[in-house]
Amino acid sequence: MKSVNFLLAFVLMALASSLASAFDPSPLQDYCVAINDTKTAIFVNGRFCKDPSVATADDFTFSGLNIPLDTNNLVGFNATLVNVDNIPGLNTLGIAIARADFAPGGVSSPHIHPRGTELVLVQKGTFYAGFVDSNNTLFGKTLYPGDVFVIPVGLIHFQVNTGKTDGVLYVSFNSQNPGLIILANSTFGTNPPIDPYALSRAFQLDVNAVKQLQAKFSSTN
Ligand SMILES: *[C@@H]1O[C@H](CO)[C@@H](O)[C@H](O)[C@H]1NC(C)=O
Ligand SMILES: *[C@@H]1O[C@H](CO)[C@@H](O)[C@H](O)[C@H]1NC(C)=O
Ligand SMILES: *[C@@H]1O[C@H](CO)[C@@H](O)[C@H](O)[C@H]1NC(C)=O
Ligand SMILES: *[C@@H]1O[C@H](CO)[C@@H](O)[C@H](O)[C@H]1NC(C)=O
Repeated sequence: MKSVNFLLAFVLMALASSLASAFDPSPLQDYCVAINDTKTAIFVNGRFCKDPSVATADDFTFSGLNIPLDTNNLVGFNATLVNVDNIPGLNTLGIAIARADFAPGGVSSPHIHPRGTELVLVQKGTFYAGFVDSNNTLFGKTLYPGDVFVIPVGLIHFQVNTGKTDGVLYVSFNSQNPGLIILANSTFGTNPPIDPYALSRAFQLDVNAVKQLQAKFSSTN
């Protein structure tokens, strides 16, 4: 009986580990430069892949992550994500990178990347960064240049520039398309709006407060 249980546990673990790799799988070839024009395409793997004999170094290159972004907006934050849309050569490779700029006091609003673990590297400035696990425990930390912080896939997280100067983070993901769900927008800025009654009950807020938030985050604003 014991060995049957052991076998069962082993099979379940094997199943779990194969399920855990059910996204961004290993590529079946060296690379798959994404293209739209099927005339020079050979494999189909989510996107068409460019014939490797006509792939060039430029397919694997992006320039401009040294350039600061304009952070003059409501949250004092702006980011450039470099993914398969800007480097077609990273198609199928399960990786992406971003640069994030923060004005003093700027905030990367609490959000989730549903498909990617995030590795944050502070290039400039002082930050308070944190993520919240599924038990509502906050893992928060003050970060300085050279510090690295990991945000496990799918967990709510945020960063605040607590310094007096502009701040810059470089962020990489183990997904070519990590996805982005901003909690405020996905709650109060949906199209069409979520029934204000549902949100007022859920957040223990007055219905009018909910309507004000919906007006603020409405995508038709
Ligand atoms: C493919 O099409 C998409 C959407 O039309 C466009 O954004 C992208 O730049 C195109 N990629 C290439 C390599 O032409
Ligand atoms: C982000 O920065 C770019 C380049 O500076 C700018 O064009 C864009 O409007 C900015 N976006 C926001 C939301 O501030
Ligand atoms: C969940 O959080 C509570 C405190 O909020 C703690 O007592 C408990 O040990 C945590 N459970 C796990 C599994 O981390
Ligand atoms: C989230 O909502 C804010 C406030 O309306 C808006 O400025 C921002 O562009 C939205 N972000 C996204 C990704 O929709």
